[in-house]
Amino acid sequence: MKDQYGRTIDYIRISVTDRCNLRCVYCMPEEGVEQVAHEEILTYQEIVRIAGLCARMGISKVKLTGGEPLVRKGLYSLVRDLKRCEGIEQVTLTTNGVELKSQMEELAKAGLDAVNISLDTLDAGMYASVTRRDMLDQALEGLKEALRYPQVKVKINCVPMRNVNEGQWTTLAGLSRDLPVDVRFIEMMPIGLGKEFQGRSQDDILAALRKAYGQETLFYGKCGNGPSIYVKFPGFKGRIGFISAISHKFCGECNRIRLTSEGFLKPCLQYENGTDIKGPLRRGQSDEELAMLIEDAIYRKPRSHHFEQAEGEGFEQRQMSKIGG
Ligand code: 5AD
Ligand code: SF4
Repeated sequence: MKDQYGRTIDYIRISVTDRCNLRCVYCMPEEGVEQVAHEEILTYQEIVRIAGLCARMGISKVKLTGGEPLVRKGLYSLVRDLKRCEGIEQVTLTTNGVELKSQMEELAKAGLDAVNISLDTLDAGMYASVTRRDMLDQALEGLKEALRYPQVKVKINCVPMRNVNEGQWTTLAGLSRDLPVDVRFIEMMPIGLGKEFQGRSQDDILAALRKAYGQETLFYGKCGNGPSIYVKFPGFKGRIGFISAISHKFCGECNRIRLTSEGFLKPCLQYENGTDIKGPLRRGQSDEELAMLIEDAIYRKPRSHHFEQAEGEGFEQRQMSKIGG
């Protein structure tokens, strides 16, 4: 399936809940977000139906995200059912890792292909102030558990912020020296509370890493579904990635759409527009009718974001926890 600009769309990010067991300062307010009524959230069955239709259009990769996807009961069963859909080749998960220790075995058995663990710092006090929860140990236990399943690729995601998790880049990157994990630095995007934080650039981080670990080599070859640039430092087991949506805009190669937990299909992270799929689905529309809606939403995907402007007409007003990053 191609959009109107000729981009191949083969990847969907599906948010399964907007709830979370952490309260990262750049994502959720202290008191949490207003909770969406249970009935407004897509059931697993509905998600599988929508994903199945997307798969018929060539979407072969699914990422489950949140909020925190593991706070939704029985997530492994969704992974299992998605893996059984014809055309879906890869099912991956983004999590803060806090609940991973107890769920990893079921997820791996269900066929999970990869897990991205969000970790902005390895300092317990700093973790507690960034996430407003004292749970670094649980997240690290989750990481350790994930590494017991070599068939599941593990990546770590960090959002570098000025004056927040300053100085943590070398420590976090060091994880990929000792462990077979990729560590990726994700540029802060001006969405929701993220607007109030200043990110650290790819160049700043790379400079700090060079000082600590020597000269990197640029790593060619595909390492996932996203637009990361990867480098490797001498002697490292894993790679270091950079996802810099603003300073290194990659809209021209964007391959994804998003489905919110409330069943709204969003073709671009920055724009609030998109297509309600849940309404028509619950009104009993046929697969063909739903497929047309999805196809149309994909086709009309905007050419690019304009994150360089924080505010603009039609820009997303929802918090990141509602859209799933
Ligand atoms: N900019 C960039 N990344 C963000 N995340 C949450 N909010 C933002 C933002 N404004 C990240 C989380 C997590 C992933 C799902 O999205 O840290 O790693
Ligand atoms: Fe939860 Fe992720 Fe948002 Fe942190 S960034 S509050 S872990 S959804």
